[in-house]
Amino acid sequence: MSNTQEAADQLLDVNLHENERSQREIESDVGKKSEHLCVTIGATVPTGFEQTAADEVREKLGSSCRISKDRGKIYFDIAVESLAQVHCLRSVDNLFVVVQEFKDYQFKNTKEEVLKDFEELAEKLPWSDPLKVWQINTSFKKKKTKRKKINQNSSKEKTDNGQGDESDEKDGKKKLGNSASDSHILDYYENPAIKEEVSTLVGDVLASCKDETDESLREETEPQVWKFRVTCNRAGEKHCFTSNEAARDFGGAVQDYFKWKADMTNFDVEVLLNIHDNEVIIGIALTEESLHRRNITHFGPTTLRSTLAYGMLRLCEPKPTDIIVDPMCGTGAIPIEGATEWSNCYHIAGDNNPLAVNRASNNISSLLTKNQIKEGKTSWGLPIDAVQWDICNLPLRTGSVDIIVTDMPFGKRMGSKKRNWNLYPACLQEMSRVCRPETGRAVLLTQDKKCFTKALSGLGHMWRKVHTVWVNIGGLHAAVYLLKRTSQAFVHPSEQDGGRHPR
Ligand SMILES: C[S@@+](CC[C@H](N)C(=O)[O-])C[C@H]1O[C@@H](n2cnc3c(N)ncnc32)[C@H](O)[C@@H]1O
Repeated sequence: MSNTQEAADQLLDVNLHENERSQREIESDVGKKSEHLCVTIGATVPTGFEQTAADEVREKLGSSCRISKDRGKIYFDIAVESLAQVHCLRSVDNLFVVVQEFKDYQFKNTKEEVLKDFEELAEKLPWSDPLKVWQINTSFKKKKTKRKKINQNSSKEKTDNGQGDESDEKDGKKKLGNSASDSHILDYYENPAIKEEVSTLVGDVLASCKDETDESLREETEPQVWKFRVTCNRAGEKHCFTSNEAARDFGGAVQDYFKWKADMTNFDVEVLLNIHDNEVIIGIALTEESLHRRNITHFGPTTLRSTLAYGMLRLCEPKPTDIIVDPMCGTGAIPIEGATEWSNCYHIAGDNNPLAVNRASNNISSLLTKNQIKEGKTSWGLPIDAVQWDICNLPLRTGSVDIIVTDMPFGKRMGSKKRNWNLYPACLQEMSRVCRPETGRAVLLTQDKKCFTKALSGLGHMWRKVHTVWVNIGGLHAAVYLLKRTSQAFVHPSEQDGGRHPR
């Protein structure tokens, strides 16, 4: 039996019996069996939110993180049984397992020498454990796809024959949603986001391996000729070679070493050659597409990455029962991420553009349907509503909102810089009205920093700037401002002269 198969079998075997034992026992059991399989995981995260991602990793996996000099990357060590949980992190875009890290790589002086070194490097690298992890990861993904198909079919069957629970029982072998083993896992992971992803990843392996023979498992783990490609991501000015040259020559050596087949588009293994100044990291990709695409099916012109939305929400530390509003929600990326991750809060998504409200509503519906298919039963819904409104005149009571998180029009693709000079002061003023004095907070993203700073300076008695995170949004240098609402009660401008009553 190959080491890889052994590792995969250990994971599956342990999962099979989790029904009968406590989660704690299982964890220590898996821990003992796969002690040898500890690897370093690299993750790309939204630039500026490296610390947020590191905090999430520490909180959910108990691992401490190294934040790379190369902005937007973090590294942490895990034992293989935590792999499913790694995929559940909300702040990471792409994941890879590290083959080797050179903190201070000595590049030779000429291009020929550097490329020759890369060629020679391929056979010296410790590929074995990272490849095992890649293979286990691949088997998770295969099972996820398989499970999805089964659930989609069974949910279709349910609608077709209208028999509900009765037909579920007949089809018991294939069902995951109601099984004791599944609910065991769900109990363990109280967090709804973890629930969702772990029930798909670990739960799928767990449920489907029950009716899987040893042979089919072996099929999946037997060595074969993989199709691969090398991707070189390079930053730094002092290199005498191009990314393409490095990928080409290193890739040629990887091909000779493993006897794999190079395929730039239809590959199984993606080897990463990440170079940042003198730091060189070789890795194997664990994600095919960025995890930030998780929530959105109906995209708009400026849809925010869900990972960035998560980072913004985390900045304001939501507490249970908080009312969280995105008054310029677009496709709803922020409140939808909020409703899935902070389901003990209530989220309101609003926009003045009916097309945007429509997209947000469709995204909410798609997510509900996805949850329903996954769980194979009626979903509990999401604590979120979508409304059409104008941010300058919100249909919300004064002091009724705990948190405002929004991505403001930059004035480039959305709105105009000229319009922002009126919009920003007006919306900051309305936000200060609806936001609870003393405890309220706001996290606002904009690239129009000049206009924002000017607008904020006019409302210094209402908002205190606590922190600024500098982020890169599609090449634009933008800022995320964390503001705290002062204790000053809101008084409508006209009221200040003894006019209208505050709303
Ligand atoms: C940068 S986009 C938000 C994108 C959003 N985060 C997403 O993921 O799709 C800004 C949004 O502000 C909305 N907006 C502009 N002026 C507004 C106003 N006066 N009231 C409400 N929304 C407004 C626009 O319609 C646009 O959808």
